[in-house]
Formats: sequence, structure tokens, C-alpha cells
Amino acid sequence: MSAQLIDGKAFAESLRQRVGEAARSFAQAAGRKAGLAVVLVGEDPASQVYVRSKHKATIDAGMESFEHRLPADTGEDALLALVDRLNRDPAVDGILVQLPLPGHLDEQTVISAINPDKDVDGFHIINAGRLSVGQDGFVPCTPLGCLMLLKDRLGDLSGLEAVVIGRSNIVGKPMAQLLTDANATVTIAHSRTKDLPGVVRRADIVVAAVGRPEMVKGDWIKPGATVIDVGINRLPPEPGREKGRLVGDVDFASAREVAGAITPVPGGVGPMTIAVLLRNALVAAHRNEGLAAPANL
Ligand code: GUN
Repeated sequence: MSAQLIDGKAFAESLRQRVGEAARSFAQAAGRKAGLAVVLVGEDPASQVYVRSKHKATIDAGMESFEHRLPADTGEDALLALVDRLNRDPAVDGILVQLPLPGHLDEQTVISAINPDKDVDGFHIINAGRLSVGQDGFVPCTPLGCLMLLKDRLGDLSGLEAVVIGRSNIVGKPMAQLLTDANATVTIAHSRTKDLPGVVRRADIVVAAVGRPEMVKGDWIKPGATVIDVGINRLPPEPGREKGRLVGDVDFASAREVAGAITPVPGGVGPMTIAVLLRNALVAAHRNEGLAAPANL
């Protein structure tokens, strides 16, 4: 039996539509558009593509986009001065500093300088702390997007066994927290986990976020499980091809024969990240204006 495909692209489009409608209502109520500032330091090609997509998506959603591109040799003081200016700018509701930063800049220092109430990435330790104690804050976009897909597919997650593979601050740890808050029983697996296939085989929900191409095999998956693949890995090009295939952390061909539902790569989790970023920015705008954000975001 072949698994159902979880269409992250379609879900992300519908979320973006809801954000667009809510952004219009916000602009009427607040007398201004919601604003998202994105800061890019240097010329990393992948980051340039991401920042361009974020800019376009922000405009398409009827929000203001403030793009700041700084040269690769920008000093920490200049970057922190820009962050400070954005923190104090009432037209800016959300601030995102694109990562990775050039090596001479300390990412933690820069993230810590962002006002936590504008930290729409949810990377500030204040927001990590808020998530861990169950207070309202900002949750990193990718794991929040994964949770939305899981709830859409499964409804109530209470009592389900979930395994998160990967323990990064950006995906694995917040994902485990969100699943715990949704009453799943959560295991965080990582590179030192003994018998990873055995651990994964117990899970009703598998979230793979390790960054290793096609690591999770079909015979690790419990029949009928829901598999969320966060990985985006480019394989070496095949002969005669310019670019290698994009694959996830899950061996899709074998996993889809066993799983109940699975996200494809591309078209699964990937499109959710920007949609949730817009959602977070709009929620920030409502909070900044003392307005209630619509419940369907
Ligand atoms: N680089 C790749 N993805 C992201 C993201 O979601 N946020 C930031 N700030 N940088 C990134």
C-alpha cells in the first residue's frame, strides 16, 4: 500500500491566503500595513534565494517588506546598530536576520540583540524559554509548520508515540516541545542513539531533521505511521545532469510503501516555512498594536 502524500505546498498556499486576508483586515484596523524586515549579510547564494522568496511572499501577502543587504565584511557593531534601529522602528513588526552569518559574526550575539517580541524566527533564547514553559512567544517556523501538517492530518495527537530525529535548536528541540505540548509521547533521537531503527519503529509520528540524505529507511517505519521529512539535501549529479536530485532525510521510495502518510521532498515541509514566517510576522503586528490575531492563523 502506498502512503498518502501530505501536500505541504497546498497547505502553505491556503495558510498564505488566510494570512493575506488577515493582513488586509489588520491594515484597516491599524491604519498601516504589517511590516517584516529581513537582513542579509554577504552573498551566500542559497541565502540570496531565500531572502528574495521571503521578500516576494511578504509583498504578496499585503505586508510591508524591508530588505537590508549588507556587505560580507560588515562588522558586528554595524549589524547590531541596524538591529537596534529595526527594534525601535514602529513600522517593523518582525525582524529576521538570515543565517548563516559570515564567520566573523557571532550568530548568538546578533540573535540576542533582536527584540524578542519582533523575533519572528523564534530563535531568541527568550522565545525558546517561553516555548519551554508554555508562554506565548514565537515558535521557529519549520517545526510550527510541521505541527500544523500533523494536526491537519491526524487531528488530536494525544497519546501518540512521536520520534524526532535530530536535536537542533531550530528544528529538533522546538519540534519535541510542540509535540509534547500536543500530548504526544516524545523521543528525541540523534547521532548517539542506540538502535535508531528500533526506536523509529515504535513511532506513530516520525519527524526526520538530521540533514543526512535518505537515512531513514522504509523498514524502520511502523506500518501506517505519519512521516514528516524536514531534510532538504542535494545529491551529487547523475551522469549527464547538471544538478543532483533534491532528497529528504527519509528514503522516500521505500518509506512510502509502509507509511500511512508522508511529506514529499520537495513540496512537503519546505513551502511551510515561509508561510509560517508570514503568519508569525502578522501575529507580531497584532500584538504590537494590541489587537487580537484571527484564530485561523
Ligand atoms: N536560514 C535558513 N533558514 C532560515 C530561517 O528560517 N531563518 C533564518 N533566520 N535563517 C535561515
